[in-house]
Amino acid sequence: MSKIIIKGGQSLSGIVKVSPAKNAVLPIIAASLLSKTPCLIEEVPDLADVRTICSAIEFLGARVEKEGAGLKISTPLVESNEAPYEFVRKMRASFLIMGPLLARTGRARISTPGGCAIGTRPIDLHLKGFCLLGADIKQGQGFIEARADQLVGSRIYLDYPSVGATENIMMAASMARGATIIENAAEEPEVVDLSNYLNTMGARIKGAGTKIIRVEGVEELTGSEYSVIPDRIEAGTFLAAVAVAGGDVVVDNVISGHINPVLAKLQESGVDVEDGEGYVRISGDGGLLPTDIKTMPYPGFPTDMQPQLMAMMVLAGGTSVITETVFENRFMHVNELKRMGARIKVSGRTVIVQGVEKLTGAKVKATDLRAGAALTIAGLAAEGTTEISNIYHIDRGYEKFVEKLKGLGADIIREE
Ligand code: EPZ
Repeated sequence: MSKIIIKGGQSLSGIVKVSPAKNAVLPIIAASLLSKTPCLIEEVPDLADVRTICSAIEFLGARVEKEGAGLKISTPLVESNEAPYEFVRKMRASFLIMGPLLARTGRARISTPGGCAIGTRPIDLHLKGFCLLGADIKQGQGFIEARADQLVGSRIYLDYPSVGATENIMMAASMARGATIIENAAEEPEVVDLSNYLNTMGARIKGAGTKIIRVEGVEELTGSEYSVIPDRIEAGTFLAAVAVAGGDVVVDNVISGHINPVLAKLQESGVDVEDGEGYVRISGDGGLLPTDIKTMPYPGFPTDMQPQLMAMMVLAGGTSVITETVFENRFMHVNELKRMGARIKVSGRTVIVQGVEKLTGAKVKATDLRAGAALTIAGLAAEGTTEISNIYHIDRGYEKFVEKLKGLGADIIREE
């Protein structure tokens, strides 16, 4: 069992480069199934989740080859219409294969994604969209099967602006007959990136990044070359790390417009944030003011940054209120932070954080990807040594996380 071991107390300095966005590259890799001709994704982060979705599409008949720092994906022929449990169990985002597979072949049989630590993660809105596009959906024996000889454009209202449902429906609708309108669509930058990628393949999608997305179905999509947006959550994670540890760091390869809520909260907590062109410079002495957070769909404060901000607020000089409105169970990091001396009270979807003078290092475990990042951040400032286990969660979404923090001066190692 590999672990991360951190000796707290070091401030951070230097420059760190953000990798391409995990939550953009995953749907983009799935969307490559729509084309018979090769697609080139210029730079792809080396993440466990990327490896999982690549093995899932290879299982279906895609050929995935390393091309420099990127991937070349060719699927001249789809050999299977089924994504088995082993892929979906490892990563729910494998369900993003359903839309492209249905559009390309008229049949998709995907293992029903289980829930995960942060919530039940239903897929009812994905299935509602496929139904409205004319697919016949059957569920049973742990599988969901969708069939449609020809998908037909439709008007689809999403009860919740689900990122995955918006992406899955957009991919299916891109090759439906006629027009599709997705209302109350998710507006995340990763949805926009997927839409831009599909349009380079010949799709005709307008409005991504707003609540109403219009898709004009086309007969065929062809391969293209594409470079993915930087990972706004990785960027926010490093900014929160500097806020807690103190120091002066340039976080490079950032589209600051994608993390305005995070920059606002960092400023409210008293750190100096300079929004450069393509980078953000942050400096502080580790002293933090309390601030309140309420997670919302984009452009609100991102739920994927809630654990990291909590790791900051546990050391702020006062009381902060954090409300998680997106997922029903995204507070597993609370008990682990309390083992380090944090004072946090949970009531339903809200936690009250009483800032403390200092945290003490402890043995803690990552319960999900962002919780692992939050515990690492807390360990940077804690007195003594913090040992984090179950770090396979962190490997799912952070490329070279330990190396990048070590490069900024953190006293951190990974022990296999
Ligand atoms: C994406 O998950 C991200 N994952 C998540 O990032 C992120 O937290 C989430 O969007 C919200 O921003 C990827 O992009 C691979 P949702 P997704 O569908 O698409 C409800 C990370 O740390 N819902 O927007 O699964 C659902 O219950 C991960 O990188 C339905 O009710 O998120 C949840 O409460 C964690 N029915 C809310 O929507 C549905 O059919 C948000 O889910 C679908 C979703």
